[in-house]
Amino acid sequence: MSANNSPQVRSPPMGWNTWNAYSWNVTELDVRNAADALVETGFRDAGYEYLVVDDCWMAEELADDGSFRNHPENFPAGIADLVDYVHDRGLKFGIYSSAGTETCAGHEASLGNEQRHAEQFAEWGVDYLKYDNCGDHRDRDAIDRYAAMGEALERVDRDIVYSICEWGNNEPWRWGRNVDGHLWRTTGDILAKWKRSEDDEFGLGVVDIIDEMDERDIAGYHGPNGWNDPDMLQVGNGPDSAQSQSEGFTVDQPFREAEQRTHFSFWCLFAAPLMAGNDLRELDETTREILLDEDAIAIDQDPLGIQGTRDETDGDREVWSKRLAGGECAVILLNRGDEPVDIETSVETVDLHLPDDVGSYAVTDVWSGEEWTTDGSLEATVDSHGVAFFRVGAA
Ligand code: GAL
Repeated sequence: MSANNSPQVRSPPMGWNTWNAYSWNVTELDVRNAADALVETGFRDAGYEYLVVDDCWMAEELADDGSFRNHPENFPAGIADLVDYVHDRGLKFGIYSSAGTETCAGHEASLGNEQRHAEQFAEWGVDYLKYDNCGDHRDRDAIDRYAAMGEALERVDRDIVYSICEWGNNEPWRWGRNVDGHLWRTTGDILAKWKRSEDDEFGLGVVDIIDEMDERDIAGYHGPNGWNDPDMLQVGNGPDSAQSQSEGFTVDQPFREAEQRTHFSFWCLFAAPLMAGNDLRELDETTREILLDEDAIAIDQDPLGIQGTRDETDGDREVWSKRLAGGECAVILLNRGDEPVDIETSVETVDLHLPDDVGSYAVTDVWSGEEWTTDGSLEATVDSHGVAFFRVGAA
């Protein structure tokens, strides 16, 4: 179980995944169109390099020798052909399976066939594997099941990023690196909504995940080659998205614009993997502007790779921050309430590692682009469910 042959994943992976927009009905044509769209819309050039095909690319049953077969109607040309198409557009290809007998959609998966499947992925030219937790586990514990695929990927002659999707059930941040994982889901499935409701059988809203990322106290496990993954981005999605429809959630109202900016700001503060899941056929200007914001992405991809944490709570007002390379700092002022509020903090409160005698600080507002200097106070009027998102450094 050494990481010697494993690829280096120095910054949080960025890409686009089929699940939220296409769910169970994804086809190879959808994937080709998504590859073209990622190039045309500027996503690839902004850093979204992995195109990950989630559940349902495979036939319902494995072949007699245990190998995967492509879904005969939805992926007739086969995966190798699709990988070539994606590679030809300057993107990397991600695939999906499960560390159980079946995927969540009930297609036969990889438990017991890890080596055969890793070899198929390598032959096809796959660059990334999302490995889920559905199906029967045959009484094997999570570490054992995820190590089996980690070892299989190590043995093949191809660099494949290993994304552990175990939903945080068995604290994968403690053992993910030891099974050669590069990122691991920390939490349950993200829904296209602000907050989960009692009726949801499973799944979490954006603000529920933000809370769990802090309450689980896992920032110490996070960094280059081993990333806590709070799940894919729902920016641009809502009640009509395929995932919202197919899994029977009560997603009854669209995100507000402020909520979507809050979602993206926090994923960047967390240095989370940025896997977009919006429908690229219907890309509106707000979604595009949020997901392609260079200043926000730079905070996500900061070389230190630190996961931001909560510094202060005062009713609906919260202050979060993380240290950045070069002695700078990213700060979020969050308003959980229903009315706009003024939020104020100071550079002493946030996690800023500047010399004490710096009397003046430069602040950049990520979303408005405004810049100013301050002697230490950081403040803004923040919309309901919104954030102010700052980069702060010595003036
Ligand atoms: C879930 C997983 C989702 C998606 C789905 C596919 O277990 O957390 O991200 O992959 O399965 O069926």
